[in-house]
Amino acid sequence: MKATIRVSKYQKISTIDRRIYGSFIEHMGRAVYEGIYQPDHETSEENGFRQDVVDLVKELQVPIVRYPGGNFLSGYNWEDGIGPKEERPRRLDLAWQTVETNEVGLDEYMEWSKESNTEVNMAVNLGTRGLDAARNLVEYCNFEGGTYWSDLRKENGHEEPYAIKTWCLGNEMDGDWQIGHKNAEEYGRLAEETAKAMKLVDDSIELVVCGSSSSSRPTFVDWELTVLDHTYDYVDYLSLHQYYDNKTNDLASFLAKSEDMDRFIKSVVAICDTVKAKKHSKKTMMLSFDEWNVWYHSNEETAAQEPWTVAPHILEDIYNFEDALLIGSMLITLLKNSDRVKIACLAQLVNVIAPIMTEKDGVAWKQTIFYPFQQASVYGNGEALTTLVNVPTYDTEKIEAVPYLDSIVIHNIERNELVLFSTNKHQSESIDVSIDTDFNLSHVIESTQMTGYDVKIVNGPNEQKVRPKTMSTEQVVVNNGCVTIKTEPLSWNMTRIKIKD
Ligand code: AHR
Repeated sequence: MKATIRVSKYQKISTIDRRIYGSFIEHMGRAVYEGIYQPDHETSEENGFRQDVVDLVKELQVPIVRYPGGNFLSGYNWEDGIGPKEERPRRLDLAWQTVETNEVGLDEYMEWSKESNTEVNMAVNLGTRGLDAARNLVEYCNFEGGTYWSDLRKENGHEEPYAIKTWCLGNEMDGDWQIGHKNAEEYGRLAEETAKAMKLVDDSIELVVCGSSSSSRPTFVDWELTVLDHTYDYVDYLSLHQYYDNKTNDLASFLAKSEDMDRFIKSVVAICDTVKAKKHSKKTMMLSFDEWNVWYHSNEETAAQEPWTVAPHILEDIYNFEDALLIGSMLITLLKNSDRVKIACLAQLVNVIAPIMTEKDGVAWKQTIFYPFQQASVYGNGEALTTLVNVPTYDTEKIEAVPYLDSIVIHNIERNELVLFSTNKHQSESIDVSIDTDFNLSHVIESTQMTGYDVKIVNGPNEQKVRPKTMSTEQVVVNNGCVTIKTEPLSWNMTRIKIKD
């Protein structure tokens, strides 16, 4: 099978906002305790943070991490997590039916983000709390000093403000599972007033308002229209969440789900632009896809967990090769929509539906999905380019015209490279991809593929079976400025080509 990609240096989708490679840490399961924080682990420093985990987060080059939730957020008192540790309350976390010790709170988390080179995407509780707790939190984090909350931060040992730029107004408030769930009208008004107050404390912050927690929610579209009607002038991003599964064990349909993600994004863009027109606004609303991943492998184990324990093994999906292929295609989808998707968070980062896993008394290790995410985050920077792709398609029960090849071409200006990411979804045929371009190309710097595995194969603490491997020189050819890449059936591919000066 053949595919041709036409790409021009003059036609770009957008400059990629690095926050598109964000992730997420929630106080749940073993994400924080036994994940990023474990004082008795052999790699931990004096603050109790596992350095083996920090090293892997740095390898992923995650620019921003959403914190502290998630469903947990909607019952959380941020003040429980500051001040002397021995005075902090143990609380019931109703969302996940666990016990939160508050050993790690805001100030410790800020320390961890510094160590791991990540910015914070801070979320405020609009479930059980509201405007007052939110504006106090902005004051604690971002105000210089000389007021109650900013001076308390200093007393707690943090002289300089944290200057947190990105903030979420609650979490999945459209979901009836959410503690303090609201209808669109109730949430829209609360988010509007909270946004105004937070920006009065610090007008440099950017705010994300809750959209729908999946495209299949019965309130999807009406929720967005009502919420944006209230908040359009005061917020900067609308959120989207989406998780996919392969419960029916139908590979072709599973791999087609990145198309569903694309349609979800395009629908939300249309909704935002409708509100823009209705309001005669000059402002264009951007999107924050702040939870996305595959999630289903661990459902039964999670349901069987004892309630009211600390750091239980919940949502510990072990990802296989087919999951890595879909994650690759979902990354491509986000990049193809990078003119509107400015923030995205792979949910989550450590132990809980995560690319990084930890053994309590052992190593931190890389799941299959670690690799496409890492390659995109490290090399997929600069300008995403518009491509004209000619490739055969297939139909599934729910989605028609699914291209066998997903692809994105990026002009990495800093490195002076053209970077191609692609997923071959065909189960038996290779696809010869040729790129026709007006870039003056020199030579292939690196070309890798993840391919040839049983789709159900997984990685583990002692074995990294699934990972990218370097392609042979026959598989990638640059000839007279035209590139040809042979992508194997069921493969995730990255090719980096040097551009002549
Ligand atoms: O990421 C796991 C959970 O998924 C989050 O807590 C919630 O926001 C979503 O439903």
